[in-house]
Amino acid sequence: MYTPQMKELIKKVEETRPYRLGSDFPRMTPEERQDVLKNFHPDFIQSGFRPLKIGVNRGDRIPQELADLLESHSMISNVKLDLEKISYDVDVLIIGGGGAGAAAALVAKEQGVEVLLVTKLRFGDANTMMAQGGIQAADKANDSPLIHYLDVMGGGHFTNIPGLVSALVNDAPLVIKWLEDMGIMFDKEDDGTMITIHGGGTSRKRMHTARDYTGAEIMRTLRDEVINRGISVVEFSPAVELLLDEDGRAAGAVLYNLETEEYLIARAKTVILATGGSGRLHYQNFPTSNHYGATADGLVMGYRAGAKLIFMDTIQYHPTGAAYPPQILGLLVTEKVRGLGATPLNIKGEQFIHHLETRDVESAAIIRECTERKMGITTPAGMVGVWLDSPLIDLIHGEGTIEKQLPAMLRQFARFDIDIRKEPMLIYPTLHYQNGGFLIDENGCTSIENLYAVGENSGGIHGRNRLMGNSLLDIIVFGRRAGFHAGVKTKEVKQNKLTLEHLYCYQREIEQSGAGVVDRVSPVLVPHYNHREALGLS
Ligand code: FUM
Repeated sequence: MYTPQMKELIKKVEETRPYRLGSDFPRMTPEERQDVLKNFHPDFIQSGFRPLKIGVNRGDRIPQELADLLESHSMISNVKLDLEKISYDVDVLIIGGGGAGAAAALVAKEQGVEVLLVTKLRFGDANTMMAQGGIQAADKANDSPLIHYLDVMGGGHFTNIPGLVSALVNDAPLVIKWLEDMGIMFDKEDDGTMITIHGGGTSRKRMHTARDYTGAEIMRTLRDEVINRGISVVEFSPAVELLLDEDGRAAGAVLYNLETEEYLIARAKTVILATGGSGRLHYQNFPTSNHYGATADGLVMGYRAGAKLIFMDTIQYHPTGAAYPPQILGLLVTEKVRGLGATPLNIKGEQFIHHLETRDVESAAIIRECTERKMGITTPAGMVGVWLDSPLIDLIHGEGTIEKQLPAMLRQFARFDIDIRKEPMLIYPTLHYQNGGFLIDENGCTSIENLYAVGENSGGIHGRNRLMGNSLLDIIVFGRRAGFHAGVKTKEVKQNKLTLEHLYCYQREIEQSGAGVVDRVSPVLVPHYNHREALGLS
């Protein structure tokens, strides 16, 4: 429930609402966009980054928190392992149980090979399950993969790798059909036509949705399908290091059983990294929309094995994370809310940016409003945010739209006695997505032979900024592509001895680098929240 002071401020939002209903706020010019980005987007805050001292990307500027992890000791540096004692021996090893890993598993299995999916938490406990807004695909008469391609490139400031974007947009219509054939229930008109809506930076309505829980609908279905097809899944067993063979090719992983605390060897002919992103590292102390498992594990393992990273200096801050109530700080307020017409407003109830600028620009403008312009609303906990005028949605599209299109949002706030049909939400940018990751080709192959990276473990598809709905798309497109390629590739792989030599070399590099690392260990597997410290207890 809002405090009496906040309720007083909401009256200003109500005052300007009739005017906003009949008008469209002007879009920024390209110069204005560059200006707000350079001055307010966290990617441009120099103190948030430092050059990496170790490995193939030595010298590259990356977030401080990630640099710390990459310049850490391995969990197994002091563990005696018998690499010949093999607990799992398969063709394709998939590390990660989100949407990308599940899609990869399904297609790899179709190649008639032995597939094992290992996951740190429960299968399906991942960012995919939390994705709300939708999945893009150009499958309407007024749209085409070419127009989709131009939107993706524009959103990424034309820094994206063209071949990856081409794969993304061309596979998209097929991917929607693949998902639908598996039983995913996308929103449809009464006559069966797929409903599609806009997202920030899209020139056509191509967002396919399942209300505002699209990711959950996709993840549940993929998970069921993996289980129904008899694919082996091992839960609560994160991979903590990759294994290479004597020729430097990926050949398996060391798993850590969270329950028994044993290390187990999984040998494979091809390995797919699908562990998700790094939001739980809370770069620059931002709240995050990410799942608890998003601790950069795949980046740590793949980097130690020598895979090349790209675009690690660009992070996506979703403009609309919840800023109030504190219990849901940072949780996502889907872009679908803005897609349906809700506008961001400052303390005076004034709009200060078009509601459908791309995410980086929208976030930077909100940060400017709350910092330099001091026009944000301060919560009792000291958080500052701006209003997102959700009641506008029912006024634009008719009563009942929020209930029908945004049931999860409605419930998320109703739990705290905030009715988003009648009262605006208070929002602030939240750490949402890692634009960068391992350099891949169109099949998801990294710079290490037989090692693939998909989803947030990969980079280049979205350049320096991703558009809404292209992440659910990329996990399926590249999950499928990697699953296919890795499955077929196994047939020509001749296995030889497993080694951890790459890890020992990396360890020596740390020691010689003067990185000053002594006691950090990674991957961290779970975020390091110290609740006692947060509560001021010793
Ligand atoms: O706003 C959202 O629903 C998020 C979608 C996305 O990141 O693709």
